[in-house]
Amino acid sequence: MKKVLVLNGPNLGMLGSREPEVYGSYTLADLKASLDKEFPEIDIDLRQTDSESEMISWVHEAFKSKLPVILNAGAFTHYSYALADAVAMHTKSGNKLIEVHLSNPYARESFRHKSTFSAVATGVIAGFGFGSYRLALAEILKEEK
Ligand code: DQA
Repeated sequence: MKKVLVLNGPNLGMLGSREPEVYGSYTLADLKASLDKEFPEIDIDLRQTDSESEMISWVHEAFKSKLPVILNAGAFTHYSYALADAVAMHTKSGNKLIEVHLSNPYARESFRHKSTFSAVATGVIAGFGFGSYRLALAEILKEEK
């Protein structure tokens, strides 16, 4: 069974109650349940951390195991060069990493317009709520066929 790491960064553990007008009223557990239902053929390992160090260690784990990653790095996206270096190590070795966002950062404050790792991600999907993750998983599945 194909395994995919779905990694979520800071404050995404608060989905459901965090700015519902921006991020919706569903939780990460709801996301996991809906992805499991839609992609029964994929072993979806969904995680969340508020720690940059832990997030980087998960990208290292994906690199060592050659696992595809769907990454919503939250605000780390906008300033973490350490995470960008880890992503580059992963993708430049031929592994997939799709950057996702629930909201469209380009329609929001200017500090969200920059991502430290979009240039080294395999692709970027933003603005579709949980649909951003679904589109990313569909793409990873397609690549296997
Ligand atoms: C986000 C967008 C980021 O700017 C923000 O810091 C988040 C969530 C999104 O999914 O829309 O935490 O990554």
